[in-house]
Amino acid sequence: MKPRDYDLDAFWMPFTANRQFKAAPRMFVSAKDMHFTTDDGREVLDGIAGLWCVNAGHGRKKIVEAIQQQAGLLDYAPPFQMGHPLPFKVANRLKEMLPGDLDHAFFTNSGSESVDTALKMALAYHRARGEGQRRWLIGRERGYHGGNFGGVSVGGMPANRKAFGSLLPTVDHLQSTHNLEHNSFSRGQPAWGAELADELENRIITLHDASNIAAVIVEPLAGSAGVLVPPQGYLEKLRKICDKHGILLIFDEVITGFGRLGASFACEKLGVIPDILCLAKGLTNGSVPMGAVMVRKGVYDQMMTAAPQNTIELFHGYTYSGHPLACAAALASLDVFAEEQLFERAGELAPYFEDAVHSLSESPHVIDVRNMGLVAGIELEPIPGKPTARAFEVFQRCYEKGILIRTTGDIIALSPPLIISKPQIDELVGTLGGVLREMGRAS
Ligand SMILES: Cc1ncc(COP(=O)(O)O)c(C=O)c1O
Repeated sequence: MKPRDYDLDAFWMPFTANRQFKAAPRMFVSAKDMHFTTDDGREVLDGIAGLWCVNAGHGRKKIVEAIQQQAGLLDYAPPFQMGHPLPFKVANRLKEMLPGDLDHAFFTNSGSESVDTALKMALAYHRARGEGQRRWLIGRERGYHGGNFGGVSVGGMPANRKAFGSLLPTVDHLQSTHNLEHNSFSRGQPAWGAELADELENRIITLHDASNIAAVIVEPLAGSAGVLVPPQGYLEKLRKICDKHGILLIFDEVITGFGRLGASFACEKLGVIPDILCLAKGLTNGSVPMGAVMVRKGVYDQMMTAAPQNTIELFHGYTYSGHPLACAAALASLDVFAEEQLFERAGELAPYFEDAVHSLSESPHVIDVRNMGLVAGIELEPIPGKPTARAFEVFQRCYEKGILIRTTGDIIALSPPLIISKPQIDELVGTLGGVLREMGRAS
């Protein structure tokens, strides 16, 4: 390895144990298709699509060229009171792809911004209908909705919340659907747990009153908190209760969008259409930061008609909303997904992937395996008194052996690019299984 010609100290790395990392760095310098290359020249198989985003694999020519060309043509255009063609085109493409009347797109630069935008839209929408007292936002324990104040408030990951004070004031949480006693080693949607949605009506609406509640936000399948697949009937129940009480249902599809579950979006696969839907990550195949918030026709129309003519309907936006390079990357990514039928491919590969990951069920320390589409969670028994330590060691050993996995707590997540081959699934799961056996022998 060439000696490093830069210092590691100045960059404060996100969601990273900085001191631990800087003592023994793991560095990627390039990537192509299913592999990263490290700074010491090793290839690492990408088992998590970068960070759940590089769904078509790395360095795709069509996407790279679209970004390069756009940078030369129109590098930037102001998005407030000015336009350029590309965000309109991306919005039309998304409208065509999404089920129901999720017909309008607002652009952001990340999943976190999409979530905060969606929450603000929900509040503004109710105000526009004369129900501005609807301020409560209902999230779920173990939900992850990004790192901004709104998303952390409705999110339910304790470590992400505890250092940051009171967060948003009018927020409550449904309980998590995670339940090992009833659902461990489920394949696809677990049979038990639809009744957990009743808590919305039985406790939350009873406590706060429906007339005060603006929206419920959930990830249809919770990714970052450990791959929690929704129980059969659970999302349908949430939809019904929200409809009954005039509460907006927001799906955070930042991970589940763009083929991850073997269909274009989770809402399509699971047959439950939200009122507002958050996207990011796969939208540009991870290449340029971009997010989107898709809104049903009724919500958009309400906002358009409530404001006086010639006034701004929603006082919200970002300098880089609909950035030309991001839009060019999005259009090219959507082309690649369609041309290579990657969402269908993910659906076809899913049974093979499912069998592969469930072959780890008997491995040392494994207390659950769960999956849907091309995403899986493998939960390990924590070392007593040292939560997260076991999974992190698995992560490090896997990296040394040439595969990239992700861990959250003591849960391992696999979410490979949708171009993964069957031999690469075998390599990914085989290497992980080998590491688990090795650690089983050592303990
Ligand atoms: C469901 C969900 N929402 C929001 C986010 C935040 O996205 P970003 O990191 O792009 O802000 C993530 C990131 O993993 C996510 O998984």
